[in-house]
Amino acid sequence: MLTLTLNGTPREIRSSSDTPLLYVLRDELGLNAAKYGCGLGQCGACTVILDGDAIFSCITPVMLAANRKVTTLEGLGTIEHPGPLQQAFIDEQAAQCGYCIPGMMMRAKALLDKEPDVSDDMMRDELEPHLCRCGTHMRILRAVQRAAKAVLTPTTTEAAP
Ligand code: FES
Repeated sequence: MLTLTLNGTPREIRSSSDTPLLYVLRDELGLNAAKYGCGLGQCGACTVILDGDAIFSCITPVMLAANRKVTTLEGLGTIEHPGPLQQAFIDEQAAQCGYCIPGMMMRAKALLDKEPDVSDDMMRDELEPHLCRCGTHMRILRAVQRAAKAVLTPTTTEAAP
């Protein structure tokens, strides 16, 4: 049995160590924000953060997350109290079907944590591995820009994204 820290809470994992992290999150731990898209590391729907870096959880065996910190969309806020990044996506109405959005948000979160003063080019380059078939790309970019502004000029009610 291995352990990892999931959204700030230590968790013991019963799945075999070669199980993809995505399956562990969804099937064992009941967190369904990360999505199965291609299963090949080619669409970004399954993206989560591992020790600060955005990763494709569909091609990451859970053993690689042992004794490390995993953050999923569920760790960024709640329906009642969305985090700034989630609120920015809501404000910009960035989701259409919404399937790609959790992965987009997690990559944006990792980016803004490292580089809050992000340029448009940097944002576009970083989000390039993510596919969105609805075509809300411009709204998604505006949402990340909005979240970046919230990080740089937080109000008293805003936490980090
Ligand atoms: Fe992981 Fe597509 S499901 S990259």
